[in-house]
Amino acid sequence: MADLTPMMAQYNRLKRKYKDCIFFFRMGDFYEMFNEDAKIASRILGITLTSRSHGKAKKIPLAGVPWHAAEGYLARLIKAGYKVAICEQVEDSARAKGIVKREVVQVVTPGTTVSERILSHDQNNYLLAINQEDGTVGLAIVDLSTGEFELEEMNDRGLTDELQRLFPAEILLPSSRERDLVPKLRRLLPAVTVTTMDDWRFSYDDAYESLISHFQTISLKGFGCENLKMAVGAAGAALNYLKENQKAALSHIRGLATVHPSDYMMLDATTLRNLEVLAPLREELKEATLFSVLNRTKTPMGTRLLSKWLRKPLLNGIQINSRLEGVEELAKSVSLRLDIAQSLKRVVDMERLVARVGCGRANARDLNALKCSLKIIPEMKTLLKVCSSQILKEIGQELDAVTAVVKKIEQAIVDEPPLAMNEGGLIRAGYHLELDQLRQISKDGKNWIAQLQRRERGRTGIKSLKVGYNRVFGYYIEVTKPNLSLVPDDYFRKQTMANAERFITPELKEQEAKVLGAEDRIKSMEYDLFVQVRSQIAEAADKIQQNARLLARLDVLASLATVAVENDYRRPTVNDEDQISIRDGRHPVVEKLMQGEEFISNDTQMDHHSDQILIITGPNMAGKSTYLRQVGLIVLLAQMGSFVPAKEAKIGIVDRIFTRVGAMDSLATGESTFLVEMNETTNILNNATPRSLLLLDEIGRGTSTFDGLSIAWAVAEYIHNTPSVSAKTLFATHYHELTELALILPRVKNYNVAVREWQDHIVFLRKIVEGSCDHSYGIQVARLAGLPNEVIERAQEVLANLEDEELTPNKIPKLAIGPHAPPMASSPQLSLFVHQEHPVIREIKKLEINKITPLEALNILHQLMDKMNSS
Ligand SMILES: Nc1ncnc2c1ncn2[C@@H]1O[C@H](COP(=O)(O)OP(=O)(O)OP(=O)(O)O)[C@@H](O)[C@H]1O
Ligand SMILES: [Mg+2]
Repeated sequence: MADLTPMMAQYNRLKRKYKDCIFFFRMGDFYEMFNEDAKIASRILGITLTSRSHGKAKKIPLAGVPWHAAEGYLARLIKAGYKVAICEQVEDSARAKGIVKREVVQVVTPGTTVSERILSHDQNNYLLAINQEDGTVGLAIVDLSTGEFELEEMNDRGLTDELQRLFPAEILLPSSRERDLVPKLRRLLPAVTVTTMDDWRFSYDDAYESLISHFQTISLKGFGCENLKMAVGAAGAALNYLKENQKAALSHIRGLATVHPSDYMMLDATTLRNLEVLAPLREELKEATLFSVLNRTKTPMGTRLLSKWLRKPLLNGIQINSRLEGVEELAKSVSLRLDIAQSLKRVVDMERLVARVGCGRANARDLNALKCSLKIIPEMKTLLKVCSSQILKEIGQELDAVTAVVKKIEQAIVDEPPLAMNEGGLIRAGYHLELDQLRQISKDGKNWIAQLQRRERGRTGIKSLKVGYNRVFGYYIEVTKPNLSLVPDDYFRKQTMANAERFITPELKEQEAKVLGAEDRIKSMEYDLFVQVRSQIAEAADKIQQNARLLARLDVLASLATVAVENDYRRPTVNDEDQISIRDGRHPVVEKLMQGEEFISNDTQMDHHSDQILIITGPNMAGKSTYLRQVGLIVLLAQMGSFVPAKEAKIGIVDRIFTRVGAMDSLATGESTFLVEMNETTNILNNATPRSLLLLDEIGRGTSTFDGLSIAWAVAEYIHNTPSVSAKTLFATHYHELTELALILPRVKNYNVAVREWQDHIVFLRKIVEGSCDHSYGIQVARLAGLPNEVIERAQEVLANLEDEELTPNKIPKLAIGPHAPPMASSPQLSLFVHQEHPVIREIKKLEINKITPLEALNILHQLMDKMNSS
């Protein structure tokens, strides 16, 4: 160590605390990186790697980026998943004794950034803190760039879903959990940045203290999370981590929302993916998502909120209908919708601007942008005043014009300020007396100097005399060599040029000092005033955030209304009744992507009395999968508060949509496709409730026909016969044997997607009709493919044999029998073919129970049993 230069010693001392960060070490006009950091930076940023010796120690690798271009380089490192500590010179190098003092002023990480260069405007940027013990997971979810701060508790399975739903940029863990959690996290989110902190920082007591001191409350009761110990621990750790990285008070984080998973429809990651809600299954079809069909928002906050609503449809009928009412009003009034859109177009990303204000990183242009956005609020309030729906009226009432903020920015900041904040030119004239005086002094001095050239030309008679300025020598008077004899005595020589000499005079020196002194002071005073204005605005952060959220809500409602009008969606009836009833439903995404062809609409009728499980058969390409997804999407849309692509829809609220999509359609990699399929099926059978909607697309396709069919059969029976699971189910399959379930299970119905044969062709009619499809058309397709006639004919024979064997001689499906078979709800023989009741039943029906005594009842029971035994 003794061999190190003092600067490298300083570097090592500072870097020690930031081992997991790339260290940006400010040296003059550059940020330098050393050792491993330099190697990583040179690889990722494509900058030159050099080396330099410091003292007697061996040469060390070195790479640097110019400070004025640092933001772009920084952004690239962060996007690559690295963390960067920025270490600045914190004293003037000219005045420093010995080595200039340096300090880390900010740590930038993927989950703690507010930089526009790094963030994408249509996505939230989440930091997730996970605290886990004995099967309980406490989760804190923060988006520093918007001020959103939530916590919730769940089980391990819930965590998996939440991770894949939120796509966090960074995850924070207690050190002791690193070993068991990181491999799991890496599997789910390969690119996520993981940071660990000492376990004690997740402790309930410490976290509690940090949170109440930040929010300046005496307890957490008001946030409804007192008892969520694990989650509170996570929230405290997250908040402290953010504060340490930003080295700012984070005044824009004003509240902590407790999320109750039971308030929202559960959409697990598999379902979001299978229904292509936010991301397409095939990457190249970017537009093939529900999100892109629905997104007509005008503001970044609106775009982000839409994605949130899609991820979290509601369960509460009142809330759903309140949104629907708002969409309806906007859908009906073209002018209201257009006026709102017009105003919203002028709103910038307020949420993120306020966050930058709160982190002390907003510049003067940001403040002006904020001002312009806030200025639309009065007109928006006027527009919404005439509304009759509760939700729109409330938005109008709650919007706050924050006139004091607008006025403050207007008075203080010039119209077109520069980007830099320490070069002056930010503050408007008339805002601050002393600043105005300094500016006057500087101006007077400059005027005096400007007139000096004319005066001195007159006094000396040197026509070519010039007054000039350079950074090193300041102001000077320049006289060309031939005229040197005319120079008066009070000129002092300062610099000799090739064909001229430069002079100063005591008077000029004096004026120069005035001008330069004033300008220095102006710059620092403007900066101070700007920071003052910024912190005053930070005090109104919660009101501005509230505005941002209200405008986001309005934006989403207006977007849903626009989409509804343009695509002929209708308002669904949403309530707690037990049915899903859709007339002429369409798939919202497929119908948009159809070229030339027309999308064929279809009806759906599901309930718990007779139509609980619909088995849907039909040839390949007929439209089975499309139909399943269409029903799922319509339910999801209705519960997020959107109109739906159908002529009419009645949706009894669904608590969860589960999907299981056939192996062939699955993008799952890594695990065996069949295992993935069975894992998902297990999840469904363990978690479905009678209020759930199950979309099972070709269960069992991932294994041999017999195994697959057997599993599919048993799954359907289980769903039908287990009261706690008996969810409404759409079951698409190629195993037409499954249609026999309808013979024995009363709430199973068969449907098929109609096709017509026409001159050796199959014409897809795309209509869902009642009944089973008795043809798989596999052999027809094979014929079309040119398989030899002999083979086709033989195949038809084999097929006939197989089909013959499906029912027992007394017409019970063979698959239905066995010692573990559930009791049949009705004997198929009796109900379907004989249509005769057992005599005992007939007698029971005749009994008038009110007219017999208990003793008589016992006697009757005895007789009936005798009859039963003898028959
Ligand atoms: N209702 C409809 N109206 C018009 N076209 C449709 C309709 N439904 C589906 N299609 C078209 O048919 C194609 C195939 O549909 P889908 O994938 O749903 O068939 P499938 O029956 O599930 O086939 P497979 O058995 O091979 O999985 C879709 O990509 C779509 O282009
Ligand atoms: Mg399919």
